[in-house]
Amino acid sequence: MKNLLKVENLKTHFKLDDKTVYAVNDVSFEIKKGEIVALIGESGSGKSVTALSIMGILPMPPGEIKSGEVIFDGEDLLSKKRKDLKSIRGNEISMIYQEPMTSLNPMLKVGYQIKEALTIHNKAKGKEAKAKAIELLRKVDIPEPEKRYNSYPYELSGGMRQRVMIAMALICNPKLLIADEPTTALDVTIQAEILELIKDLKNEYNMSVLFITHDLGVVTNIADRILVMYAGKIREIADTKELYKNPLHPYTVGLMKCIPRLNDPTKKLYTIDGNVPDLLKEPKGCAFYERCEKRMDKCKDNVPSLIEYSTDHYVRCWLYEEGKNE
Ligand SMILES: Nc1ncnc2c1ncn2[C@@H]1O[C@H](COP(=O)(O)OP(=O)(O)OP(=O)(O)O)[C@@H](O)[C@H]1O
Ligand SMILES: [Mg+2]
Repeated sequence: MKNLLKVENLKTHFKLDDKTVYAVNDVSFEIKKGEIVALIGESGSGKSVTALSIMGILPMPPGEIKSGEVIFDGEDLLSKKRKDLKSIRGNEISMIYQEPMTSLNPMLKVGYQIKEALTIHNKAKGKEAKAKAIELLRKVDIPEPEKRYNSYPYELSGGMRQRVMIAMALICNPKLLIADEPTTALDVTIQAEILELIKDLKNEYNMSVLFITHDLGVVTNIADRILVMYAGKIREIADTKELYKNPLHPYTVGLMKCIPRLNDPTKKLYTIDGNVPDLLKEPKGCAFYERCEKRMDKCKDNVPSLIEYSTDHYVRCWLYEEGKNE
């Protein structure tokens, strides 16, 4: 499969008055055409900042892309002018967020908002735009789309609102859909339905998807590949099945233990001890050192590199570099 997106050595920092936040610190990965890739990690690990950097919608200042390349369909987005970026962003990459209410206008009917978006993007106007908007509502499995066209956002459930946002994201037939925690605010059954919908639409529209979440349990059935991020760096990359079967990084192992077991709901939920480090200084060694159950002396002062441990399975951890560094 060909790459649709290739992110290379991306560094995004925030320059605040008296300090720098090293939010994304040398991140590289790729997404192939038609692939669903999940980016997972705890709060503050740099997932959203990675997405905003790719989309070109990072608040600058205080944000600053220090280095890196974002090659989308053969073109480096970071070297593009804002104007060109805007057209790629609107047409070829779409993004959906955790809370649809922040993107929907509460004063306007949802159908009208989709119709407007179709008109702005020159996809249709007038009656045709209305018909297309209803068609899109149907595509995202909203029941009685003709009726729902006239609903205000507050009249819809959280799951339905997220479906409306997905409908909007589809307007331009994007090649890449970035979904930043789209199901986090929803209850488990609705979450599963939205994931199913994204998977179906991916096939129908032949899109690639970057699915961001802090919950490893959510992505089992949807992602082809998983990127595990911690403190601004990718710690592990593997196919979903391989990652579940054979997690290498102690952080990934910790995240696995945090997945609630449906067959044993009484079991106390595991959490990884300690907190995500503040990103105000570049750590001398492995950023997971303080929390790691397997830490060794050398982890403290030496940054491990991302190595290919087995075919297509990458990890950034000294446990797997044994022998290579002696
Ligand atoms: N506008 C900003 N100004 C300063 N620091 C920021 C800004 N946006 C993000 N950061 C910092 O960058 C780091 C990464 O944040 P990011 O939002 O990418 O985390 P995340 O992995 O998406 O977490 P969550 O799961 O909570 O959404 C955090 O330390 C955050 O405080
Ligand atoms: Mg986020």
